This record gives sequence, C-alpha cells and structure tokens, in this order.
Amino acid sequence: MNNVNQVLKIGDIIQDDVYTAGKVLLLKKGTVITQPLLYGLERFDCDFNSIDIIVEREGVISQVAGMTAPQPGNAPEAQQDESIVFSDKLKHDAVEAAKQLFAADANLREVSETAVSISNDIANNIIFAGSDARLCIQDLRVTDEYTYQHSVDVGVLAAQLAKSLGMPPKWISEAAQAGVLHDIGKRRVPLEILNKPGKLTDEEFKIMKLHPVFAEEDLHLIKGVSEAAKAGAYEHHEKLDGTGYPRGLKGAGISRIAQILAIADVYDALTSKRVYKPGMSSARAVNIMMGMIGGFNRDYFVAFLKSLILYPTGSRVLGTDGRSYVVYKQNPQSPMHPFLLDELSGNIIDVSQSGADNLAIFGEDCEEMRLKWQEGRNK
Ligand SMILES: [Fe+2]
Repeated sequence: MNNVNQVLKIGDIIQDDVYTAGKVLLLKKGTVITQPLLYGLERFDCDFNSIDIIVEREGVISQVAGMTAPQPGNAPEAQQDESIVFSDKLKHDAVEAAKQLFAADANLREVSETAVSISNDIANNIIFAGSDARLCIQDLRVTDEYTYQHSVDVGVLAAQLAKSLGMPPKWISEAAQAGVLHDIGKRRVPLEILNKPGKLTDEEFKIMKLHPVFAEEDLHLIKGVSEAAKAGAYEHHEKLDGTGYPRGLKGAGISRIAQILAIADVYDALTSKRVYKPGMSSARAVNIMMGMIGGFNRDYFVAFLKSLILYPTGSRVLGTDGRSYVVYKQNPQSPMHPFLLDELSGNIIDVSQSGADNLAIFGEDCEEMRLKWQEGRNK
C-alpha cells in the first residue's frame, strides 16, 4: 500500500531521519519534499502511515504519520478531527436568529428573511468544507434552549446529509433552509406544552402533533421559502413504513427532503440535552436509530453515518472488553473505527485491524448494549 500523498505534501521539511519498517533510511532529516521526490516515493512499496514521520509544514512541526507507541505516563494528546468548523460568531448568530423565528411578535416576512439568512450561512460552511470533512454535532451546540438550537442543528445536519448524498449546492442550501424551518409550526403550539419538562399527556401530544399542519398553513403565506422547506415542514414526521403523522404517508409518497429531515431530526433530538434527560452519545443514538430503520430511507441513513464523526477525538468510548478508552484520532479509511489510546499501556490501538483482539467499541453510555453484544457472542 502506498499512501505517501496522504501523508507528505510538497514543501514539508523532514524533522528526523525516516526509516522503513525494515530499518532502511528513506529520508534524511532536513529533506525538503519536492514534486520529483514525491514522484519517486510514490513508486516505493511502503505503508507510509506505519512509519514515524515528523515534518515542518507551514511553520508548524507535527507528526504526520506513524504508530509510535507512547511511553506509559507520557500518553500523547488526542489529535484534532478533520471536521467542519463553524465559527463561534456563526453559531451564536444562528441561534439568536432562530429565536426570532419563534418570537411571538415576529411577522411571517421577518421569519422568511431570517430563515434564508441562517440557511445561507450554514449551507456555505457545508458546501465549502473539504469533501472528506465530517460533522461533529456536539461542536455546534452553544445553548440548552432546545427549540432554537434544534432548528440550527437540523439545518446543519440536513445540509451535510444532502452533500453526502452528492446533491448540488442549490439542494444543499434548500436542505439547510428546510432544516431551519422544519419545526416552525411549533410557533402555534402553546408554550406550556412546548416547554413542558415531563411527558406530554395524550391530549397535549395530539396538539403537539399538529405542528406540521400549522407549518403547512403558515409557510404557504411566506414568499421566498423554497418548496422543499414547505414539503419538509409538513412531512418530516412521516415514516417510510406509514406509521408517521400527520397523514401516514408511505415510501416514495414522502418527499426526499422530508426523508432527509426525518433522520436529522431524530438524531438531533436523541443527542441533545434536555431538562429531563442528558444528551446521548452519537454512537448510542445511531444504535437506537438502527432499531427504527423501517421508518427511514436506508440509503440516506448510511450516507448520514458516513458524514458524521460518531466518536469525536478526545471522547471516551467503551470497548467490548468492558474497558474505557480515549479516541486518539479518526481513521479516514474506516470512519467507524477510530484509533484508540489505551491509557494503561500508552498503546495506540487500530480497531479496524482484526488483530486488535476483536475489540469493538461503543459510546461511553452504552454499557447495556455492550452486555447484550457480549451475551450474543457467548451463545
Ligand atoms: Fe417536528
């Protein structure tokens, strides 16, 4: 396997002699990576990820490859994820703007302008992020005020899923707008129901379930809102197997945008912190959603998983051996299997390798799932 182009860039300055696994000196300290040199290295039969390489790149010295086992007590810091970065300003502005959407005195024209403005900011960030950049939803959260944060989150998740499905920029923008506006019908749900910390009574739930219908009525009065946003707000609680509401639509009878929103909406609701529950880890949320797969578009769900960082670098996970590990860095070749740091030994574990003692990982809050997995394995 030759992956030199993923590891070294033209202009990198090698900071320490680089040896192959067979102890052959490959690059001397001080070597500057040039196009001809890179060309030569491409023809060298070597897995560049497996050998230690430290470079100076744009004035910053860092290890770009290698699996050097750290010494116990000298464990390395978890690395940075390649994730989509939203500026603090954008995050705060988006939530403040979302508050305007739900303000009792906001008129529909203001709602429309606000929604378009938030959606454009979100969509631009997604469209111009690297094609491999994935989304870590926890990075986006700036408030516990669920209704506003949820509108922004679903806008971002829907846009990211649209991109992951290969949809063009216009569609990504419309997906962002549909996400931001999907729950706009909740403006007409009484606040005591909307913000009730406990479980809703049957009667209250019936009123809550009217919010897609309210959205359908209201959005048709607003100029500048896309047809996708209108369909999405009306149909985002429909399920492919016909068990959703308000109309119990089935399969292809549900618009594509609503199928996207359904996934983004449930994932965000599960991973969000509420007054009455902590937010679940992404891994746990995905596990629960797999149990609801009959309601979702399966292909969209797979694309969604690929577009997310399920195990953020620096977070803790649970191994099937019952031990806790720290996510050390992402594995671009196998996104569901990040590299883990075993704090006891200081070793870095490549979970994607079958040699890693068949270690599988769960979110830190997945103990009962782990036990179930182990039970099934022992049968
Ligand atoms: Fe909803």
